[in-house]
Amino acid sequence: MKKRLSINLNQKIVKEITEISSGGLIIGVFEGPFSDELKIIDQETNGTLKKLRKLGELEGKLGQSIYLPALSGVKAQRTYLVGCGKEGKKLSRQEAVKILTKMVSVAISSKASNVFISIPKLSISGEGDHWISQQISYLCENNIYTYDAKLNKKDKTTRSLKKVSIAIDSSLSSSKLKKGIRVGQTIGRGSNAAKDLANLPANVCTPSYLAKESRSAANKYLSLSCSVLGEKEMKKLKMDCLLSVGAGSAQESKLITLNYKGGKKDEQPHVIVGKGITFDTGGISLKPGATMDEMKFDMCGAASVIGTMQVIAELKAPINVIGLVASAENMPGGKATKPGDVVRTMSGLTVEILNTDAEGRLVLADALTYAKKFNPQSVVDIATLTGACIVALGHSTSGLMSNDDRLAQKLLKAGTTSTDRAWQLPIWDVYKKDLNSNFADIANIGGRAGTITAACFLSKFTEDYSWAHLDVAGTAHISGAAKGASGRPVPLLSHYLLDQS
Ligand code: BES
Ligand code: MN
Ligand code: ZN
Repeated sequence: MKKRLSINLNQKIVKEITEISSGGLIIGVFEGPFSDELKIIDQETNGTLKKLRKLGELEGKLGQSIYLPALSGVKAQRTYLVGCGKEGKKLSRQEAVKILTKMVSVAISSKASNVFISIPKLSISGEGDHWISQQISYLCENNIYTYDAKLNKKDKTTRSLKKVSIAIDSSLSSSKLKKGIRVGQTIGRGSNAAKDLANLPANVCTPSYLAKESRSAANKYLSLSCSVLGEKEMKKLKMDCLLSVGAGSAQESKLITLNYKGGKKDEQPHVIVGKGITFDTGGISLKPGATMDEMKFDMCGAASVIGTMQVIAELKAPINVIGLVASAENMPGGKATKPGDVVRTMSGLTVEILNTDAEGRLVLADALTYAKKFNPQSVVDIATLTGACIVALGHSTSGLMSNDDRLAQKLLKAGTTSTDRAWQLPIWDVYKKDLNSNFADIANIGGRAGTITAACFLSKFTEDYSWAHLDVAGTAHISGAAKGASGRPVPLLSHYLLDQS
């Protein structure tokens, strides 16, 4: 947990490349003629690189890598060459990320405690060199993460890497590149903070635990404060809809507010709202047993809000941001909400709860109504809301729905630059009738387009402001052998908010 790297930006010293690092040396190579660095290494090693090229071992193909231990004439104990494809060829962001990820994973799995990464001149469509420095430091921090807090000592991952130095062949000033390094590393740490919360088991990570962690995050920054509403206070505010979700649980539901003041006093804040179901059994509409353990991840939206607030506070962004976390545990029990129950929301609308497993939208409904009191510039909610979103977009892309196309475009752009991508789905009126109810103003489920009807439900509570919804059911955590939280969409949210300043 919380492996932190120290990352430096060094100026590129081609002539001294063979002297520069005692640990690991990672160099990007193109197909075609050797760069000056490679020429020097080739000379020092009596033509080793030329020989390798002849053997077809060093083609420079994108993403290819070779390991050259203990090269004589090179100070570094380990040298790695990572293919960057054809020199001068425009790379897509995905191709560039493939190269940088390879460099980073070579560094992380290396036994060296310090590595020097030399990145040649890459041209990436739509992005400058600043993006490269930001991405590589993000990838270093994000990819070195391991979660082994609850493992016995002998099973813990041991990593040697402590320090990464980076040289980028760029005409940008080193202060601009350094800023990219700092931003990327901070986003990586925010995304690791989100992973740490989400990977915890649900017997530890309860709504009260999220409240405690939010308070301690706020204590780290002068500009960040935290307040928490318990069930009594929420009852007073008429949040019966949110409260109906935790009715069957022994754990108290919480509504957490993180308030970041970095902008002018009277400037309207941007609000981010996270679904914080610390465990989703489905309630009386009980889920099947297989992979139910993964429903501890049903608070990933909340975790991304807490992680992003730390990024914004750490980088002292000159804006005002409110982070809301709507947290409850969805359990069956004698006091649990039943299918057919009707509850009144804080907004006054009544809801017929036809399926207690569609609980995320119920906690969000009241949190979104509560958000109005901040007179927001924009509101974005983040939720592991529907299994249907995984069917539609898989595990690489988050679902985006919005009542404001300008806001949607901003979020899509933030997703593209941060390679934490989202794709927009419509929430047209034709879908809204699916929520008709015979016994209340609206039902909490209906229709075949599950991701869209869930968003249509939320849209009934967001009519007064510019709003977008991110369904991260497929992207916030992965299953299988690498089961765990991904830290998404902290990069998207951070980029979006930083762009607002
Ligand atoms: N937390 C789930 C959605 C989910 C499913 C997230 C799988 C990640 C992986 C949500 O509360 C839920 O149960 N949604 C239901 C809605 C249905 C009852 C309309 C679903 O998707 O099945
Ligand atoms: Mn559910
Ligand atoms: Zn859920």
